[in-house]
Amino acid sequence: MDGNLIQALPGPHNLDNYEKVYKNFDFASVEKEFSWFETGRINIAYEALDRNVTEKGLADKTALYYTNGPRVEEYTFGQLKKLSDKFANVLKKFGVKKGDRVGMFLPRSPELYISFLGILKIGAIVVPLFEAFMEEALKDRLGDCEAVAVVTSPDLKSRLPLQHLPALKHVFVVDNEKGGNVSATEIDWHQEMQAAPDTEAMVWVDRETPMLVMYASGADGKAKGVIHVHNGMVGHYITGKWVHDLQPDDVYWCTADPGWITGIVYGFLTPWMFGLPIVIKGGRFKAEDWCETLEKYGVTVWYSAPTAFRMIISGGDKLLEKYDLSKLRHILSVGEPLTPEVMEWSMAKLGIPIYDTWWMSETGMNMICNYRCLPIKLGSIGKPFPGITAAIVDDDGNELPPNKIGNLALKAGWPSMLRGIWGSEEKYKEYFKFQPWFISGDSAYRDEDGYFFFQGRVDGVINTAGERVGPWEVENKLREHPAVKDAGVAGKPDALRGEIVKAYIVLNEGYEWNPDLSEELRNYVKKGLAAHAAPREFEVVPGIPKTKEGANDRKALKGWALGLK
Ligand code: PRX
Repeated sequence: MDGNLIQALPGPHNLDNYEKVYKNFDFASVEKEFSWFETGRINIAYEALDRNVTEKGLADKTALYYTNGPRVEEYTFGQLKKLSDKFANVLKKFGVKKGDRVGMFLPRSPELYISFLGILKIGAIVVPLFEAFMEEALKDRLGDCEAVAVVTSPDLKSRLPLQHLPALKHVFVVDNEKGGNVSATEIDWHQEMQAAPDTEAMVWVDRETPMLVMYASGADGKAKGVIHVHNGMVGHYITGKWVHDLQPDDVYWCTADPGWITGIVYGFLTPWMFGLPIVIKGGRFKAEDWCETLEKYGVTVWYSAPTAFRMIISGGDKLLEKYDLSKLRHILSVGEPLTPEVMEWSMAKLGIPIYDTWWMSETGMNMICNYRCLPIKLGSIGKPFPGITAAIVDDDGNELPPNKIGNLALKAGWPSMLRGIWGSEEKYKEYFKFQPWFISGDSAYRDEDGYFFFQGRVDGVINTAGERVGPWEVENKLREHPAVKDAGVAGKPDALRGEIVKAYIVLNEGYEWNPDLSEELRNYVKKGLAAHAAPREFEVVPGIPKTKEGANDRKALKGWALGLK
């Protein structure tokens, strides 16, 4: 390492000259890469999956390596095409149609990817639901977008609050034989798949047809249904090429769960647009299993997150020495700050740098990144992707000069940008209050060389182990517990997870604080909302700081969590 500058390693698809390309690039030039450029027939599922079979001669190439304990499977592009056609035909049989919302509430498994593609094929809209979500989180999300169907598993289906979801007509249950009786709304996924024809099921759509409603937590209020459209593929493809440096012989592993945006866009849609096999590891994180997976499948491009890297680092050199990871040629990171010790570890132990990428559910594609043609500045998230204008603006929307911290803003209009918030024009408009800027909610600064440095969220959204948690949702849940009079929640810095969820509690009369109550409250959030949202630390306080309007004062709470109380 040369001071704070790390020499990047040029790759075959790299931008050969960032500055030159940045000046001249236009997203329209990417459109010729898609078959719709000639045919006019559009569907992201065609570009990601079917085209590999119909046009690229990759029917027999492995598309998916799946490993989860004793369940180890491989699927070719040809097989996945047929299976997703079958599921598309199942959906059609039950009257699910273009524009309908279908919840995807499954653990990582081949059935998830098959169902996902089947939904896209008929022009319906996928609503990803992280497998840790519990009743309240499911009710808010499926209820908000009035989903008509959901694909789930025997273990997860009991969390669905069916009585609160009047629009939900069909519950497709995968592997139902393990789960006992099938009730009236339930449909046995495997049985239907066996009976369904694998005839072509593709429904052609417009570029602006929605394909995804991705719920993303904000600081206040319920999670927002971020709408993405088929046209997002333009951004997915070109970032796959220039950021992920994808090449024909690559084996790609994005470790993010498809309940989040990364696990969808880069988990499978983008690598499949390049005809590449992806690795999917089911089950819980274990450092040893992950290293074994990298070795076993000869992963060449690995997209993961700092918390996962740190967990592997904590396994020590002994762990790494057991595995041959020499096939790894490109590593990328997302979701939380890439801390220097992680970069140093990668350089020392794996011999290559980690390329940080910054983006969010709302942006739909990598936005500010490090590239193989550009030196990496330690601690920087990199420079804007060609075609993207990024700036730092003050609280009135005025651009700030270099080295001044402010709101990280992006000029609206890139191909993968969110197109709306489900059911709320008002919430959508909040992102664009300073035209022409999209305000990200992150603070950052830019140095005189044009590199951006992430500082944190400005709005109280918590980022724990790369997972986005809305404090309002947690507070609301805590207030439902009889011991809790009021609650305030903020992210507290943590060496392993980046941040942990910390809850400040005002107790109701007659309750006393004790370790059992802390455990009970933690479980209460875990069981009602989601495990990753459950506070890891509690503190009893006499009152929660409020704004003039009576809402929780996010800035003051953040100050407390930083130890400034
Ligand atoms: O605060 C930023 C953080 O993750 C937020 C977006 O979360 P989500 O919508 O769940 O998307 C996750 C990844 C696409 C951002 O507002 N974030 C994302 N990337 C980075 C990051 N923080 C620091 N460094 C990054 N590279």
